[in-house]
Amino acid sequence: MQAKITTIRRIPKILMGVGAVGEVGKEVTGLGAKRALLISDPGVMKAGIVERVLSSLKGAKVKVSVFDRVEPDPRYEIVDECAEWARPQGIQCVIGVGGGSSLDVAKAVAVMLKGEGSISSFFGVELIHRPGIPVVAVPTTAGTGSEVTPIVILSDEGEKLKKGVVSLHLIPSVAILDPELTVGMPPSVTAATGMDALIHAIEAFTSINATPFTDLLAARAMELLYSNIRKAYCNGSDIRARSHMLEGSLLAGIAFANAGVTAVHAFAYPIGAEFHIPHGIANTLMLPRVMEFNMIGALERFASIATMLGEAPAGLSLRETAQRAVMAMERLREDLGLPSHLSDFGVTAEDIPRLASGVLKVTRLLANNPRTVTQKDAEEIYRRSL
Ligand SMILES: [Fe+2]
Repeated sequence: MQAKITTIRRIPKILMGVGAVGEVGKEVTGLGAKRALLISDPGVMKAGIVERVLSSLKGAKVKVSVFDRVEPDPRYEIVDECAEWARPQGIQCVIGVGGGSSLDVAKAVAVMLKGEGSISSFFGVELIHRPGIPVVAVPTTAGTGSEVTPIVILSDEGEKLKKGVVSLHLIPSVAILDPELTVGMPPSVTAATGMDALIHAIEAFTSINATPFTDLLAARAMELLYSNIRKAYCNGSDIRARSHMLEGSLLAGIAFANAGVTAVHAFAYPIGAEFHIPHGIANTLMLPRVMEFNMIGALERFASIATMLGEAPAGLSLRETAQRAVMAMERLREDLGLPSHLSDFGVTAEDIPRLASGVLKVTRLLANNPRTVTQKDAEEIYRRSL
């Protein structure tokens, strides 16, 4: 029995497999909707993916409005603008098609369509007290896991911060995972988004709020992601690798929706917001040094990761085994051609105290971390990552 009460949040209905995108129309009408709003971004529109969703909706006789102006690291104002535009249209269902940014905006707009005001008044945990209209989430990356999480991340440019809205009401009703939609992702995006998913699994597994339920999901997610990310990076049309990446991302999403992510994400947010470093890359930059720092707080956990991933030969001490997990991540980062220095993005030593103060503001995530982080610790971790 756990020493504290834990929660397992609602999980959407999940459709998964090649061709699943053809089921969108049926799922939308199954939710009782005849008028839908599709939210996406210009890149996904150009890739022709939205056409496939629209043709399924047309087949089901669903009337659709399209909002395709989602930007990377979306500002919260885009949610307000989209909701204001869509409010008079009698929308009954929101369909998010894209990476984490489009899915997050779709989730937030669905809540805002049930009321007035700005999404910015809901930054924080469980401040939304009414359900939105239903959301169907169609991820095109593997990924953020946003299709199953109660979390939306938006940029507050005034404060140079990425802020979270966390609410049970943000969990989509249906998630449709079709590996074919991820085939066109370039290697660099496959690498960055795949690392984000892997980091979700690592952080859920090492969170102090991990439970046997989240461990099961996080462990399998790590195995799937770690054994397929190089294949998907090297051969984007390997549909088996793409499927496993999408499954891994999904499992990691459910794991961290319940156990939380930890300090890697807390360190990634300030550099992402200020230096416009894509989320997966910001996490990957911080991963090894944060793992190293956290290691003594959860030695068995980090050692289990190395063992599960097949990176620890027998006969090593517990600490040496745990260290192998860090080494494996550094080698993976190198194999995937991802940057390894904050200085590559213009971060300098003078920026560090300010960025470290930003980390300490991410109390929502630091509360899950296996080791307490002080201002001095945060500065040192950034310095080692420069
Ligand atoms: Fe993430």
